[in-house]
Amino acid sequence: MTITKGWCLLVFLFIQLVVMALLYREGKRLAYFFDNFFKNGSSSLVFPNPQNLSLPGDIYANLRLITRQHCPEVSPYIRGPIHIQFPEALTLEEVVQKTPNVTKGGRYKPTDCESTHNSAIIIPYRNREQHLKYLLYYLHPFLQRQQLNYGIYIITQSGDFTFNRGKLLNVGFKEAMKDEDWDCMLFHDVDLIPEDDRNLYTCDRFPKHVSIAIDKFGYKLPYKSIFGGVSALTPEHYLKVNGFPNNYWGWGGEDDDFAARFNLLNKTEETWKQNGINSVQYNVISKELHPLYTNITVDIGTDKA
Ligand code: BGC
Repeated sequence: MTITKGWCLLVFLFIQLVVMALLYREGKRLAYFFDNFFKNGSSSLVFPNPQNLSLPGDIYANLRLITRQHCPEVSPYIRGPIHIQFPEALTLEEVVQKTPNVTKGGRYKPTDCESTHNSAIIIPYRNREQHLKYLLYYLHPFLQRQQLNYGIYIITQSGDFTFNRGKLLNVGFKEAMKDEDWDCMLFHDVDLIPEDDRNLYTCDRFPKHVSIAIDKFGYKLPYKSIFGGVSALTPEHYLKVNGFPNNYWGWGGEDDDFAARFNLLNKTEETWKQNGINSVQYNVISKELHPLYTNITVDIGTDKA
């Protein structure tokens, strides 16, 4: 039997017709599914006869919700350099009033678009109320102008033993990751205020030193490998180098050790695998959701124990 070109064409057209009819039918079923889902909050899979289904206009309104726009790559609210002042009479209550769109625990998501960035700001802390007040005053609007989803964590060292920044940062990382799947961690000193919102609090392919120009240092790096102040790392970066060392009690050094974990220098070469996020020991004393931040008070022991 010979199959003519004409027959082939007819069969091909028939198959196309069947496929199109199926697509049309399934499209209606899907539209009904979403309509039902958004109206009743239920994803019932029981459909009426699709033949009798007409598409009401509000289905389209609901579908618009699903496809909420991603925030633009460059936020339209970025302003560049701002002038920082420290109004003496400012109180924390006033800062709370001036920052109305933040939810409990210091969380924020842009209202007009879907942000692709989830940044946790981790601040090691003890007895620095003034610094904290000014930082919150400037940091919240700064992060909002960048259109980020973010949360601010204050990790308070309990007692009055020697401070340990590295260990507190390890605690902050662990505790913040219990709350949410953050994709970027900003390790942030309480006494540094960002002056230019073009410096994005997001993560890059490589670990990022964020506080690269500080007024105290004449807006220059004091030395090339400095990694203190503010840094931004993905959880993958952080885990890869086993976090910060736990044994730097008192001021300085922990950030240099941390930076060395990326190219392994001196003593760090021998110790980093055992000394870090995998060995940090602590007891959470309390966790409170304040209007502008989450406070986690933690007992991290002492240099003696
Ligand atoms: C310290 C660092 C500190 C840097 C800048 C260094 O001597 O070891 O911890 O970040 O100075 O203050």
